[in-house]
Amino acid sequence: MFAIIARSRPASLAGLTIERRVHVDTPYGRPSAPLIYGAIAGKSVVVLLRHGDDHEIAPHRVNYRANIQALYDAGVEGIVAIATVGGMRDHLGPGTLLIPDQVIDYTSGRAHTFYDTDDGTAHHVDFTWPFSENIRRRLLTSARNAGIRIEDGGCYGCANGPRLESAAEIRRMQRDGCDVVGMTGMPEIALAREKGIPYGAINIVVNFAAGLGDSAQAVAHDQLLEYGRTAMVTVARLLATFIENKEKA
Ligand code: HPA
Repeated sequence: MFAIIARSRPASLAGLTIERRVHVDTPYGRPSAPLIYGAIAGKSVVVLLRHGDDHEIAPHRVNYRANIQALYDAGVEGIVAIATVGGMRDHLGPGTLLIPDQVIDYTSGRAHTFYDTDDGTAHHVDFTWPFSENIRRRLLTSARNAGIRIEDGGCYGCANGPRLESAAEIRRMQRDGCDVVGMTGMPEIALAREKGIPYGAINIVVNFAAGLGDSAQAVAHDQLLEYGRTAMVTVARLLATFIENKEKA
């Protein structure tokens, strides 16, 4: 069974039939929301709303460890995470979908590891390629089969938020090699790796990052929400194709 970490309920999960909602607890506290067990395209999935049932939890306040622990305890075979991002390249404007293959972590102060005790051993998980290449390929194939345009690869820079970035911070991230910027990928991706759960992401570009394109003077918050809603309909189609064909991929 695959897990989907979604931003919020409505459009991204258009094809989801809900069977039951289960409140769970973990040694790290409660996850953002009850686990939603259901089916997409007739196949079982479990869905976790990263920002809570009513989108009430800000990116820097998400209990990432509880979320990943809860999905681990549920025995998921992999995670597909949905996240909105700002684009940092000319060709990555609002509405673009991207399957990232790299990450740079700019967050601070987040509980970012399960190995946080002095138990006498250091645990250094490999993170050379943060995303599961298998899931990435399957997402790309699903997009192709569903006739959905999608960018293959890109470096996701994770800012701490909740504020948006300054223009200079975005210029620095560009120089570092980032292509998109978001606020929720880390430590989520690394925690999944620590638990050995294959993780892939669908990034939805909802704005040009600060200082770029029509965000030259400011990033329009209304625009972020609007593009998010429209693209989610396409993402729902992509997810349905991915889940439906997961055995065949
Ligand atoms: N910056 C950080 N996170 C984001 C952005 C952005 O411009 N757009 C959507 N999530």
